[in-house]
This record gives sequence, structure tokens and C-alpha cells, in this order.
Amino acid sequence: MERTLSIIKPDGVSHGLIGEVIRRFEKSNIKIVGMKLLKMTKTEAEGFYMVHKERPFFDSLTDFMSSGPVVVMVLEGEYVIDKNRRLMGATNPEEADEGTIRKDFATEIEKNVVHGSDSPETASVEIAYFFNRFEIVG
Ligand code: CMP
Repeated sequence: MERTLSIIKPDGVSHGLIGEVIRRFEKSNIKIVGMKLLKMTKTEAEGFYMVHKERPFFDSLTDFMSSGPVVVMVLEGEYVIDKNRRLMGATNPEEADEGTIRKDFATEIEKNVVHGSDSPETASVEIAYFFNRFEIVG
């Protein structure tokens, strides 16, 4: 059994896609065991994306991620990290497969609607960034 962190990014929330994203998780039998709506500060967004701090898009990405509310979720299930990544599609919406969240709704590589952890190690760090153990209903 795996857990992963999902974020509905500010563009997803402002475009009214919270329900749509959650519907896709539920239709795929992905269990949501933690969920909250919050707005990150610039510093909190920088902390979350620290692995990307040397990238040219870091400042713009963290501005965007702190520009409005996001929904953070802990998803649980067998192979859920990979399942979530297949539902999201490629980071760049132009490269995402038909029927994926990013293909259907993302406008550009930065404003790509959703984030999902890419490995079990990243998932545990990312989940701990937003949730304490009382906020996860396992
Ligand atoms: P995410 O899955 O949240 O992980 C890092 C984010 O950085 C990624 O989605 C994109 O939103 C963003 N990103 C990755 N590559 C680029 C890029 N070349 N230009 C702008 N943003 C990017």
C-alpha cells in the first residue's frame, strides 16, 4: 500500500476544477485519506519546491504556487503514485496523453493544474510538509 501527495494548483482551483479532479480520483478507486484547502506563502512554496531551487523557473513557479488557494490531498492505494501520475499526464500539457487531467485542462507547463509525488521517498517528504498524523485518516 502506497501514499502520495496530490495538489490541485491555484489554476485548478480558480478554474473550478476541484470537483472534477476529485471525481477522477474516486472513479479510479483512489482513496483520499487527507485533504485541506490552504494558501501557501512564497516562503512555504519555496520550501516545498526546494529541489528545484536552481532551476530557471523556480521564482515564477513559487510565485504562482503562492498566488491563490490550493487543495492538498493524501491519496492511498496500491501503486497510487503511478496511478496518480497516469491520471495527471505529462508535466508539459502539450506532451500529455488524451484523457489526462493536464491534457484536458492545463494551459502551460507551469500552470498544469495538479502536482503529484514522483516516488515513495518524495511522497513521504511531501505529505509531511502539509499533514501531521492526526490529519490522515488511514
Ligand atoms: P510539478 O509536478 O508541480 O513539479 C514541478 C513543477 O515545475 C512542474 O509541475 C511544473 O509546474 C513546473 N515546471 C517544470 N518544468 C518547467 C519549465 N520548464 N518551465 C516552467 N515550469 C516548469
